[in-house]
Amino acid sequence: MLEFNKKMDREAREIFGERNLVFGDGKINAEIMLIGEAPGAEEEKTGKPFVGKAGKNLSEFLEIVGLKREDLYISNVVKIRPFKLSEKTQRSINRPPNRSELDFFVPKLQEEIKIVKPKLIVTLGNFALKNVLLDKNIKIGDCHGSLIEKGDMKIFPLYHPASIIYDISKKDVYLEDLRKLKEVL
Ligand code: URA
Repeated sequence: MLEFNKKMDREAREIFGERNLVFGDGKINAEIMLIGEAPGAEEEKTGKPFVGKAGKNLSEFLEIVGLKREDLYISNVVKIRPFKLSEKTQRSINRPPNRSELDFFVPKLQEEIKIVKPKLIVTLGNFALKNVLLDKNIKIGDCHGSLIEKGDMKIFPLYHPASIIYDISKKDVYLEDLRKLKEVL
């Protein structure tokens, strides 16, 4: 994994400049791999995925399912923080990943999955789901909380833990999905 990360870092610098990449974190060859969208400001600062607000929600979810962060491998589709300057405040704010970030990082994610070889991939949110399955048309609303098998991959899609922050009505659905995930595990 070290070699993979070093190579990705070198190549990313050529395209995106001097940026801090947030690599996957955790147990290499973990049985369960969690995949989110992209790092935010806190993740960029610390170099670790899911340590900001969304990370706090993720920790709660792990506790409910009875998983420990150190037993998992946690990563993101995009490894640099996609940001733009807010017109109002001129501060950097998150934005969705753009085409060039996708073109570079999606094939890297597919390689990363082959290195980790997890028994189960838990995608967090619509973006991760589409880019793990390489399927533009799949929608999280149609398949969250159910097991998908594709080739030798088993994928369990969950809503993004951050979406619960913005839409509290999703919380019950999320808890029900976590119960189903516990059964799968
Ligand atoms: N932090 C991450 O590392 N990934 C996300 O998708 C959101 C927050």
